[in-house]
Amino acid sequence: MKKCKITVVGAGNVGATTGQRIAEMQLGDVVLVDIVEDMPQGKALDLTQAAPVLGHDCAVTGSNGYEATAGSDIVVITSGIARKPGMSRDDLLQTNVKIVKDVTSKIVAQSPDCILIIVSNPLDAMTYVAHKVSGFPRERIMGMAGVLDSARFRAFIAMELKVSVENIHAFVLGGHGDSMVPSTRYTTVAGVPVEELIPADRLAQIVQRTRDGGAEIVKLLKSGSAYYAPAAAVAEMAEAIVRDKKKILPVAALCQGEYGVDGLFVGVPAKLGAKGMEGVFEIKLSGEEAAALNKSADAVEKLCREVDAML
Ligand code: NAI
Ligand code: 2OP
Repeated sequence: MKKCKITVVGAGNVGATTGQRIAEMQLGDVVLVDIVEDMPQGKALDLTQAAPVLGHDCAVTGSNGYEATAGSDIVVITSGIARKPGMSRDDLLQTNVKIVKDVTSKIVAQSPDCILIIVSNPLDAMTYVAHKVSGFPRERIMGMAGVLDSARFRAFIAMELKVSVENIHAFVLGGHGDSMVPSTRYTTVAGVPVEELIPADRLAQIVQRTRDGGAEIVKLLKSGSAYYAPAAAVAEMAEAIVRDKKKILPVAALCQGEYGVDGLFVGVPAKLGAKGMEGVFEIKLSGEEAAALNKSADAVEKLCREVDAML
């Protein structure tokens, strides 16, 4: 069986950790790309030397150019600047549009058939940039945020109820920003709706902590943003694709009328398999949830119109 080739552009905190997880999960050979001279090569060599201890045979290589990425099956784009304390994800727009535009065109030239997973922030707008530049069909381009935001929500609920994280199923919908929509109605603990287990006022605090989850970590780290959970989230998406799992995950997918959204990437439940984003999974939303999702989509649209003026 042909081994997958997975490129990760941006070998910083999220990118290098994603490469590490991908190799350790044996999803395929990894190519790390970064503009910083020698850095991706150094990290790749370090990861290669971890392989005998961990017992995997995935090759990890590093490069400052794109020839080494040719024929990639999946490409994860994490290149760009990250938040510092006091910055919102939207403050990164100007700089990251240029970076994501440049990187996407170089990736597409080498790997025209790849599946793209975008991570750079502001996430929904950067996925839109990569879509515009690549011209890829919606199956082959998606953004990572919902798996991360849902994981934060799940972790906080598990902490509150002192139960295993494995018992918690949760979906966070909408854009990866302050207006994200953690759905309490569809969140369950061993199959029991969370609304029956946690009082409404306490649940509202957990929802807000989830919305602020990225900022909470930025404030603690002081010099960057989260990367362990983001890398784990990307690896779960890559695994669903490589192993053709048909897994329903919250993904920034290009909506074409689903949930009343058209032409924008927003977080919705979607099926991930060998073809990539194999379909948006529509669940019935309450009036309140639909209104919150709409508001979140409006915030994404505002950024995308700014992007249109920059492309
Ligand atoms: P980082 O600063 O550790 O790494 C970014 C890397 O991108 C650096 O090594 C930099 O040299 C590289 N880079 C910059 N321009 C490049 C170019 N033109 N080509 C190739 N590489 C380039 O930042 P970190 O923490 O890894 O975050 C990366 C991005 O991911 C940020 O925009 C951050 O906001 C975003 N992010 C998104 C998350 C999500 O849920 N979607 C979660 C966590 C981070
Ligand atoms: C996060 O939510 C920075 O978007 C990133 O941690």
